[in-house]
Amino acid sequence: MKPREIKTGIHWVGAIDWDRRLFDSLVPLPDGTSYNAYMVKGSEKTALIDTVDPAMQHELFGHLNELGVKRIDYVVANHAEQDHSGSIPQVLEKFPEAKVVATAKCKTMLMDLLEIPEEKFIAVKDKETLSLGDRTLEFIHAPWVHWPETMLTYAQEDKILFSCDFLGSHLATTDLYVKDEGQLHEAAMRYYAEIMMPFRGIIQKNLDKLEAYDIDIIAPSHGPMHDKPDFILKAYRSWAFGEPKNTVVLPYISMHDSTRKMVEHLVSALAAKGVTVKQFDLAVTDIGKLAMALVDAATIVIGTPTVLMGPHPNVAYAAILANALRPNVKFLSIIGSYGWGGKAVEQLAAMIPNLKVEIIDPVLCKGVPKKDDLAALDKLADSIAEKHKEKGFES
Ligand code: FEO
Repeated sequence: MKPREIKTGIHWVGAIDWDRRLFDSLVPLPDGTSYNAYMVKGSEKTALIDTVDPAMQHELFGHLNELGVKRIDYVVANHAEQDHSGSIPQVLEKFPEAKVVATAKCKTMLMDLLEIPEEKFIAVKDKETLSLGDRTLEFIHAPWVHWPETMLTYAQEDKILFSCDFLGSHLATTDLYVKDEGQLHEAAMRYYAEIMMPFRGIIQKNLDKLEAYDIDIIAPSHGPMHDKPDFILKAYRSWAFGEPKNTVVLPYISMHDSTRKMVEHLVSALAAKGVTVKQFDLAVTDIGKLAMALVDAATIVIGTPTVLMGPHPNVAYAAILANALRPNVKFLSIIGSYGWGGKAVEQLAAMIPNLKVEIIDPVLCKGVPKKDDLAALDKLADSIAEKHKEKGFES
């Protein structure tokens, strides 16, 4: 891939990682990703906005060579996470005159993570500006999207917002700008669900903060750029501000089909009452899909057999993940089968302290579900449907 011109003097100089399938040894990347870096040339100074994952730094340096970059005055580090900052030490080695521009918090984190010496930094305050001559960069502090040190950079004259992870998507594509809005919506929602959802309240504040800016292009650090910024801003608003829908998310495991029979009965009963259900077999599911389903679900029902006196470990993993993602769910219940006893419900309940939910009575059965157990599942479906209706949650 060659450097891509965005405007005269502003180029994309990032790397597209088509084959990466896992991020942070946790997040699935079905569509790969990109690490976007941008070279901004002013009449007096030049700035490199973010770098790339160290594994792909040859791509970044290839772009800089191709553009004939001889001097970099500033490396803007919007975010300290290494997929963007990890090549800064090598950039500083090649361009020793460069200073790293970052928030004060990012500065300390980069000193810790990458051992960049303190004298290499310029710490910038919220809304501080930096002149490149005929171009001005404004730094917008945006802590907790999704680390505490994050900022966005706004090129004032060009009306380009370099938004780092915020408003980004894990999507490898040769398209410089979003072309397929359906594909982008799914990738961006997955990204929001996995990375941004735990900070929903802060995302709301940052979306409000951006209202003050006239933005022609959003240039995130993952995925294609937005030349129609309203599309992604509107999507983020719906995810961050939207009310839950008339939807149940049902992650489960079944070992000998008893819990599966309960799941199938409950799903059928909920569907008959007009409730949408998204069912996930945790033995095979993509956890990114599960995270996406949680964005606008009103209720989680967890299905688990009892294993070694507690929930199945895959279910415990999903519960811990849901607790960390802090979706805006309002109700939770647990269903499952046990052989002789156990503490699956108590143990699961202790794993989800972040979820501010009303617990609806669990339904546990001994062995295969029998008539009374199925009746209890019907009652649970009635209760969920009624609660969604009372709250006015719509499909
Ligand atoms: Fe893409 Fe938080 O790094």
